[in-house]
Amino acid sequence: MTDTTLADPRLYAALDLPSIEEARAMVETLGDAVMSYKIGLQLLPLGGAQFGQELANAGKNVFLDFKLHDIDATVEKATRSIAGLGADLLTVHARPDVMKAAARGRGENDLKILGVTVLTSLDHEALRAIGYQHSPEDLVMRRVEQALEAGIDGVVSSPLEAAAIRGQVPDDFLVVTPGVRLPGGDVGDQKRIASPKDALTSGASHIVVGRPITSAPNPYAAALSILENIRG
Ligand code: C5P
Repeated sequence: MTDTTLADPRLYAALDLPSIEEARAMVETLGDAVMSYKIGLQLLPLGGAQFGQELANAGKNVFLDFKLHDIDATVEKATRSIAGLGADLLTVHARPDVMKAAARGRGENDLKILGVTVLTSLDHEALRAIGYQHSPEDLVMRRVEQALEAGIDGVVSSPLEAAAIRGQVPDDFLVVTPGVRLPGGDVGDQKRIASPKDALTSGASHIVVGRPITSAPNPYAAALSILENIRG
C-alpha cells in the first residue's frame, strides 16, 4: 500500500484564515501531510510576510500569493523586499511591465516569480463583463507568452489550461493551479476546476488547495484524501 502520510511538495495548502494563530495551528494540525503552504491576502496585513519567513525557517516551502500590481519602480522594490524573506514563490499580475519589474527586483535571489494569468473564479462571461474580448484560454496563453518574454519562472492558471500551457513552455517553467477540488467536493466561487490528479497529469507543476482542506471538519484527513487522489 502507498504511504499516504508522506507530504507531497507539489501540494500547497492555502492558509486563508483569519489570524496568524489559526494559521500556525493549521500548520501544526496538518503535520507531516503538508510541507508547502500558501499565504495570501487575508494574512498579509496581519503579519503574513513574517509568518512566511517563520515557516521557511522551519523548512516548509512557502508561496507568498501577494499578487503585486503597481508601477514598475514599486513592483521592483516590493519584490526586492520580499526576496529577503526566504519564500520560494511570489505572485504578481501577469502584465508585461509588472512581470519584468518583478524579475528585476528578484535579481539573483532564489525566489521564483509567478504571473497570475486569469483568476480561476472568472469564466468567459465574467471576463466579458469586465471588458475583455478574449476567452479565458486565449487570455491565459497570451499572458504565458508575455511571462516567458519577461523572464519570470512560471504562471498561475486554472487546471483546465495546464495542458495547453505545458505544450508551450520549457520543462522547468512552473504551472501552479488553484481551482482544485476532489470529485463531488464543494466548488465555492471557483469556476474552472479539476481534481488534484487531473491537474498534475495535465501539466501543473504544483497545485493549491485551500478550503477543501482548511474548512474540512478534519483538515489532516482532508489533506490525506488529496494525497490519495494524487497517488491513486
Ligand atoms: O479555497 P480554494 O481552494 O478555492 O483556494 C484557492 C486559493 O488560490 C485562494 O487562496 C485564492 O486566492 C488562490 N488563487 C485562485 N485563483 C488564482 C490565483 C490564486 O483561486 N488564479
